[in-house]
Amino acid sequence: MNNSPIGIFDSGIGGITIFNSIKKLLPKENIIYFSDNLNSPYGNKPIETIQKLSYNNAQWLLEKGCKLIVVACNTATTNSISNLRDKFNLPFVGIEPAIKPAAMKTKTGKIGVLATKGTLSSSLFNLTSADHASNIEIIEKNGDGLVKLIENGIFEGIEIENLLHEYLDFMINKKIDHLVLGCTHYPFLNKVISKILPNSVKIIDSGEAVARQTKALLINNKIESNCKQGHYSFYYNGDSATLNKVLNHKFELKRI
Ligand code: DGL
Repeated sequence: MNNSPIGIFDSGIGGITIFNSIKKLLPKENIIYFSDNLNSPYGNKPIETIQKLSYNNAQWLLEKGCKLIVVACNTATTNSISNLRDKFNLPFVGIEPAIKPAAMKTKTGKIGVLATKGTLSSSLFNLTSADHASNIEIIEKNGDGLVKLIENGIFEGIEIENLLHEYLDFMINKKIDHLVLGCTHYPFLNKVISKILPNSVKIIDSGEAVARQTKALLINNKIESNCKQGHYSFYYNGDSATLNKVLNHKFELKRI
């Protein structure tokens, strides 16, 4: 059991930002990554569809023998993690927009959240916001269109810049001092986002927190790997070009 893999899934390459954090913190762990990019993006899909896709991904990873599953997608987590925990008998780690740390650090009392429509409209996101940020102003924007471009391997250029200006300029004018990236795809845009934001605005994402939570769950469940070095497998069901690009062509990718 201990040397069974950790499963990670996302609607595409977004979860690679999480894979990188987990690999760094837990180098002995074997990992299976599944990109459901045939069904990408999840962000505008109805909740029932997101739940069904998340269920199928978890079932597939379970059949591959995973000991723990990381839902490396804010949209899937906020709309389906309680379902997954009810239906499957193994530990799950999810990812949610990092509202709490941003709310604790803000000086202007205003934070921006860029996430998908599915995440922003979820009851889990709204509960977390009410719990941790009731006394600050959250300026939310749905990053419509960004995931599609990122999945096509476009991380910079005029199209990305125009969309980001459309979403971020309003937040900047509102004087946010923290921008929460509430979608695991968005860290691929960090270079352009940093160019648009004033220096006073700090970018926050949840990648490292997810890796720490994964470690804690492995320890609590006594299922830490004792391999010398983790082995990594990557699966996808759509196109492989962008996944290959972000992995620097270093791994063999398998189509399912
Ligand atoms: N990476 C997913 C997230 O964190 C992307 C959502 C999508 O596929 O639209 O929300």
